[in-house]
Amino acid sequence: MDWLAWHEGYNDPTSPHARRLVVVQDHIRTFLDRCDAPSIRAVSLCSGSGADLLPVLAEHPAGRRTRARLIESHPELAERARVTARELALEGVEVLTGDASTTDALVGAVPADLVLVCGVFGNISDDDVYRTVRALPQLCAEGATVVWTRHRHEPDLTPAIREWLGEVGFAERSFDSPGVGDYAVGSHVLVGPARRLEPGVRLFTFSRER
Ligand SMILES: C[S@@+](CC[C@H](N)C(=O)[O-])C[C@H]1O[C@@H](n2cnc3c(N)ncnc32)[C@H](O)[C@@H]1O
Repeated sequence: MDWLAWHEGYNDPTSPHARRLVVVQDHIRTFLDRCDAPSIRAVSLCSGSGADLLPVLAEHPAGRRTRARLIESHPELAERARVTARELALEGVEVLTGDASTTDALVGAVPADLVLVCGVFGNISDDDVYRTVRALPQLCAEGATVVWTRHRHEPDLTPAIREWLGEVGFAERSFDSPGVGDYAVGSHVLVGPARRLEPGVRLFTFSRER
């Protein structure tokens, strides 16, 4: 998959991922609106150019008290995120060029209050989605919000993802989708216990391309 080309979709406001981006940003904004903690931690897995998180952090008053780690394996996309963070004077943002698929990438960045798993669940096997969802409480601080996306092409996995999130202690705050065949964006809040991060665990392998 050419992830640089994929990101060009963000330049066309009618593309599915540009439409999805607006919703993801809304979910991030809602999280920040509700978060009155003096210091906020965020982490973004497979963060691409940071198009979702960085502009919202820059515009929102709570953004300046957020420390975020973005993890992206494509060097050019990671560099774009770094440049954007610098241009927006987001001093609390760290962009790691690396592999977000193992828990090692999260050491020192979690427990996080906001966890972004956007553009991931459509690119990995159902078993890996399940494994990643089961591990999410390890990434979370108490009461954390996870914002996630998944396409809804048949077979639509989103009902299962929502059920799995419930099984590991998340309550659904919102689920937005224009319908089957289009995108979905979910926001889930951890109401069950957070868990300690277990390093060295592989969560997923990119194997599909959407
Ligand atoms: C569909 S894009 C999503 C980007 C971003 N999260 C967004 O929603 O705008 C998937 C991204 O995952 C990155 N990626 C793929 N495998 C990865 C891995 N193991 N670790 C970190 N990033 C990875 C790709 O380079 C690509 O930028």
